[in-house]
Amino acid sequence: MYICVMIDQGTVEKIFDAADILDVVSGFVSLKKRGANYIGLCPFHNEKTGSFNVSPARGIYKCFGCGKGGNAVNFIMEHEQMSYADALRYLAARYNIPVEEQEMSEEQRRERGERESMLVVSAYAREFFVRQLYHTDEGRGIALEYLRQRGIAPVMIEKFGLGYCPEARDALTTEALGKGYKREFLVKTGLSIENERGLFDRFRARVIFPVQDIAGKVIAFGGRTMSSDKKLAKYVNSPESEIYHKSRTLYGIYFAKRSIVQQDRCILVEGYTDVISFHAKGIENVVASSGTSLTVEQIRLIRRLTPNVTIIYDGDAAGIKASLRGIDLVLEEGLNARVLLLPDGEDPDSFARGHSSLELSEFIAREETDFITFKTRLLLKDAGDDPIERARLITDIVRSIAKIPDAITRSVYVRETALQLEVEERVLYTEILKMRRVSAERVPAGGGGEHAGVTTVPVAVALSPCDLEERVLIRYLLLFGTLELYEEEASGEKGPRPVSVGEFIIRELAEDDLTLLNPVYNAIREEYHRQHVSSGFIPARHFIAYPDERVSVVVADILSEPYELSKLWNRLESYVESEQMKLAEFLPKVIDNYKMRRVEMLTREADGRILELQNGDDPAGVVDWIRKKQAIDKIRGKLSLRLGRTGVK
Ligand code: CTP
Ligand code: MN
Repeated sequence: MYICVMIDQGTVEKIFDAADILDVVSGFVSLKKRGANYIGLCPFHNEKTGSFNVSPARGIYKCFGCGKGGNAVNFIMEHEQMSYADALRYLAARYNIPVEEQEMSEEQRRERGERESMLVVSAYAREFFVRQLYHTDEGRGIALEYLRQRGIAPVMIEKFGLGYCPEARDALTTEALGKGYKREFLVKTGLSIENERGLFDRFRARVIFPVQDIAGKVIAFGGRTMSSDKKLAKYVNSPESEIYHKSRTLYGIYFAKRSIVQQDRCILVEGYTDVISFHAKGIENVVASSGTSLTVEQIRLIRRLTPNVTIIYDGDAAGIKASLRGIDLVLEEGLNARVLLLPDGEDPDSFARGHSSLELSEFIAREETDFITFKTRLLLKDAGDDPIERARLITDIVRSIAKIPDAITRSVYVRETALQLEVEERVLYTEILKMRRVSAERVPAGGGGEHAGVTTVPVAVALSPCDLEERVLIRYLLLFGTLELYEEEASGEKGPRPVSVGEFIIRELAEDDLTLLNPVYNAIREEYHRQHVSSGFIPARHFIAYPDERVSVVVADILSEPYELSKLWNRLESYVESEQMKLAEFLPKVIDNYKMRRVEMLTREADGRILELQNGDDPAGVVDWIRKKQAIDKIRGKLSLRLGRTGVK
């Protein structure tokens, strides 16, 4: 979804000049003047007294409650959950600044044009469907009446942009063509279908649910039949296209994102109507996987907003099965999974409609259980006292635990399972060790392999806890790699020698034998290492055009997102207004901080492994890890000194 988009520097500057911080923030937050600054209630966390500050003189905002801060563009990015480029475009539109895109190849320009045209025709179609719903006899009499009878409130119909596609063969197609929308894009978006007799509407005689991406753009539609004829598909959906990738889309994400961040939890349901009914009851941190089984990409979309997921599925057998699959996937991605089963025969939609807001939120709070309890209860019911069934149940739960990437988290779940199933922890650890060994053999470990000078990127693995730090380092390589960081005394009589940002980073990592945990970042690091001595090496350009798409996409993404960086600033408790400005001061701090985090991860991993191995009867393995831990502690001591922290935590 991250398209390579670049806006030329002149335009960017114009946008920054025009987007007055006070004006931009005032659009969303009510501010009061206090001295030279303005103060208000922070839109990024719940608070009763204002700790949200805007400084018009410096052009920045900063919340002293939650730490969020930045410039006008950052504010839009954070508030609207937009990418850097989208936030710039948003502000450009608002201040009437024409945007000139640059540095795009012919191919990119064509693709971008195509996508844009598809988005434009989709936006038009949404408007068309809404118009049909309210302003035609057919729409009002049949579709609006259907929605009313289903108990969908008028405000929700409006909020989610529900519409209606008439029964006629080609009502939408004809009007769209008449207005100059191209046949090509009607077909590519799947709004029209082509056969021997010409074009006709895909969604004929259906209630329309527009599907929006995280930024709010309409990328697809779902159409529900109002007939109970079992021969008709209940839903017809837009086909996969350049703007719609079902596996990367979550229905409702646009309306849920702010609430997900605020609640620090995402509720996952199955369908369109589930999302809408929850919203109607004031629960807004809800998204739907839209019927298909959950995908890794969908989970990653959630992970950008919160690590906590509650899966709510129907109480029937299919629902339970789906939630079990979902749990394992969520765990594997390193997120925390809770599950909530509804009473048999209910789905989230019917349940929400049948209860008050208070009842609903109380039900969720009371009934959501962590996945161990959920699986145990569920499987115990089937297993009863049958020893073979019980053994199978234990294996099943252990398989889920073994998928959790973090050893300490695993140990917490082991304890819980041992209690609930009345087995010894040792037995569980032995099983986990076996399973982790098997899966380690199957999946090649991270780290880029090298073949004939071309770095190959291994398949993606779960994000590590220091992914943000690694991303920042890559960002520095890309943006400032060739800038001089400082001068060092050279051996020989040649006088001081400039050390570039890139050289510093590469050297610092090599010094401690560190490869980056994210395989894509590591591939960039390796390639950078190889290339940085060649003359005329321009990092950003080199990697944007890199033949491996995974690399170029990540690079485009990083280049368009200072957002990540502001999060790290908060973590480091230092606030930098311009990233170039304080590079020399900031970069060593970033590196040390990164190393510290790696050390902390290693310590955690070592503690977990020692615990597992001790319990799983592998004394040789234990000694091995204790040695490793001692080595880690030494490095930690060194780093602590440098970072100015006292002692070892
Ligand atoms: N779905 C689909 N195609 C189908 C059936 C279902 O795409 N033929 C997707 C839709 O996104 C739907 C979700 O799966 O919202 C859940 O399916 P289901 O529970 O059958 O539909 P509901 O959302 O409950 O719709 P309704 O309440 O109108 O029956
Ligand atoms: Mn339903």
